[in-house]
Amino acid sequence: MIRSLRGRLFAGLTVIILLTGIVGGLLAHRWAFDEAIEMQDSVLIQIAGLVLSGSLAGGRELRGVDEDAEVWLIDQASEDDAKLWSLKDGLALATRKGQPIRVLLRTRPDGTRFAVAQRTSVRDEIAGDMAFRTVLPIAALIPCLLLITAIVIASSLRPMVRLAGDLDDRPADDMTPLPAAQMPSELHPFIASINGLLQRMRLLMDQQRRFVADAAHELRTPITALSLQAENLASVDLPVSARDRVAALRQGISRTRHLLEQLLALARQDIGSPDRATIPVVALDEVAKEIVADAMAGGVGRGTDLGFARLEPAMVRAEAVVLAALVRNLLDNALRFTPQGGRIDAWVYRDGDAAILRIEDSGSGVAPEEINRIFEPFFRGQHPEGDGVGLGLSIVKRIVDRLGGSIEAVNIAEPGRSGLRVLVKLPAASA
Ligand SMILES: Nc1ncnc2c1ncn2[C@@H]1O[C@H](COP(=O)(O)OP(=O)(O)OP(=O)(O)O)[C@@H](O)[C@H]1O
Ligand SMILES: [Mg+2]
Repeated sequence: MIRSLRGRLFAGLTVIILLTGIVGGLLAHRWAFDEAIEMQDSVLIQIAGLVLSGSLAGGRELRGVDEDAEVWLIDQASEDDAKLWSLKDGLALATRKGQPIRVLLRTRPDGTRFAVAQRTSVRDEIAGDMAFRTVLPIAALIPCLLLITAIVIASSLRPMVRLAGDLDDRPADDMTPLPAAQMPSELHPFIASINGLLQRMRLLMDQQRRFVADAAHELRTPITALSLQAENLASVDLPVSARDRVAALRQGISRTRHLLEQLLALARQDIGSPDRATIPVVALDEVAKEIVADAMAGGVGRGTDLGFARLEPAMVRAEAVVLAALVRNLLDNALRFTPQGGRIDAWVYRDGDAAILRIEDSGSGVAPEEINRIFEPFFRGQHPEGDGVGLGLSIVKRIVDRLGGSIEAVNIAEPGRSGLRVLVKLPAASA
């Protein structure tokens, strides 16, 4: 049982073509052979007619009608063959000098008899030759037909293969309907079903994202209240043993807050896409400058040398808060993974059609086997450090995707240097 549709179609059509070819070829051969025999008989009849009308004299070999045909005119008077002359007038099969012949006997008005004869082997050879020439085109046609069939099947099934390829190439969260317009009509019900499924998935995902966003949003208020209470507790004169616990409590609350903020930021990126026309044009360099300034004001501390290696105007069509979230998350990582006394360099500039943001730190970089996974939500690597929740780079990736840009993270591999280099390219907007 052939599993592939293409294989099944080809096998079926091959059988049909071969059967048609063989049956058609055999019939055509039979027919052409018989026809050629009949034609040669009519030649014998014509010659006999000529003899009867006196245009041809007997007793010699006839040449010229067909060089190979070897037709003889035999007179009863000149050749004494009882067996031959015992035959009645008309066409018959006989033997002459041990060779099978086809012979036409006739009687002249004066009562003498003659025969027009032709060797059967010659006749069969001529007929076989003609029949073969009739079958030849059919035989030549079969491989051509098979080739055409293969091409037609392949090209008919190509839209299906392309459809599957398109689906495979899609990003996991791309739920846009498949285009049915250029597809063969047989695929339309199939495409409609897939599109229905995609739409249900999209609704489901939207619901889920909204739920996450709502939940994160709802949890913010009580967490803020909790955080205030813990803050208040810290300013109360507490026994030393209680102080440690309060500090742990505050740290826990701050982590939870961070998780909620990150979840909310991620969910916001996922919900709906704003109308492009209403998105403002924002200076990426200004945003980056502010975030870096904030980080320095917050006390980069630990002696980290943070600064711009290049800071040039680069305009991007995006919400300022979105760009801020992007830069902040990248800088946050660089700060977190750079050891004491390290160095962080940032670049913002325009390169052709792209606004570039590049951040390099002097940490230890990402383990090579993990570098492909750092953009996954909640991925924090084998040895998670600090208070991260593993959502920062997912947020950054979603932002970059939505802005139609690209991002890559590579380990810096230069002698005497290590760290992570993150390169973000966004479509530049004119100011
Ligand atoms: N600059 C960097 N140097 C080394 N490792 C990094 C760097 N940036 C990210 N990583 C690795 O990638 C993982 C994912 O980063 P991501 O920003 O998504 O999460 P996070 O920083 O752990 O948490 P969050 O940003 O949500 O607080 C990190 O846990 C870390 O293992
Ligand atoms: Mg992070």
